Amino acid sequence: MKIIEVKDYEQMSQMAAEYMIRKVKECKATNLGLATGGTPVGMYKKLIEDHRLQGTSYQEVTTFNLDEYIGLSGTNKNSYRYYMNENLFDHIDVQKDKTFIPHGDVQDFEVECQRYEKLIEANGGIDLQILGIGSNGHIGFNEPGTSFDSKTHVVDLKSSTIEANARFFNRIEEVPTQAVTMGISSIMRSKEILLLISGEGKKEAFHQLLNGDVTENFPASVLKNHPCVTIIADEAAVSGVKLRS
Ligand code: GLP
Repeated sequence: MKIIEVKDYEQMSQMAAEYMIRKVKECKATNLGLATGGTPVGMYKKLIEDHRLQGTSYQEVTTFNLDEYIGLSGTNKNSYRYYMNENLFDHIDVQKDKTFIPHGDVQDFEVECQRYEKLIEANGGIDLQILGIGSNGHIGFNEPGTSFDSKTHVVDLKSSTIEANARFFNRIEEVPTQAVTMGISSIMRSKEILLLISGEGKKEAFHQLLNGDVTENFPASVLKNHPCVTIIADEAAVSGVKLRS
């Protein structure tokens, strides 16, 4: 894993956006794996700014998001589809029918999970996957204990994840208790991964990632087995974290 330390959230967002823009310029038909949560919002802002000022085009890009809450349709303000439209898709020239997010409002989730997995495969896989990290080490919504062999599946969210995400909802009772997420093996099949870590709240997780064992109890640890991972972490997340000597 290559680790890049930056000063703050602003710099992390800028560097991450530049990384993605480079990728899209290298290959216009890139398949991007996208993440939600608070961490990538700044990066998406920079992508929009660059699209406006420099004209970087996403017309041939295909996107696959990591996850979606179960029970929320795409028009619900707390759905990840709504988040992606608001924070990125509505402000760049990506073709909406080439932006994929698991559906959270279907009847048959077994079918939905298989459909999503096949969709990624049929499009040739993900070239660059953006990831954030949960304070318990979750990636996507793959909570501790998830098999490293998992494909797209339904998960019961841990109470710590529900609590962490409650800030986006009016009341904690409104946070869905389940989600559909790309599995760990789905994520690991991405050709390249960019993990963003920002803020003091992620210090423990960053420490565990760097110094802990590779274990299903800490999902992000699997990234150590991937050949091409770059981490951009800011000072607040890095401070006091030492690489194992
Ligand atoms: C959420 C998302 C993850 C995200 C993580 C961290 O639950 N499903 O994809 O990386 O939690 O979120 P944040 O960036 O808000 O800290």
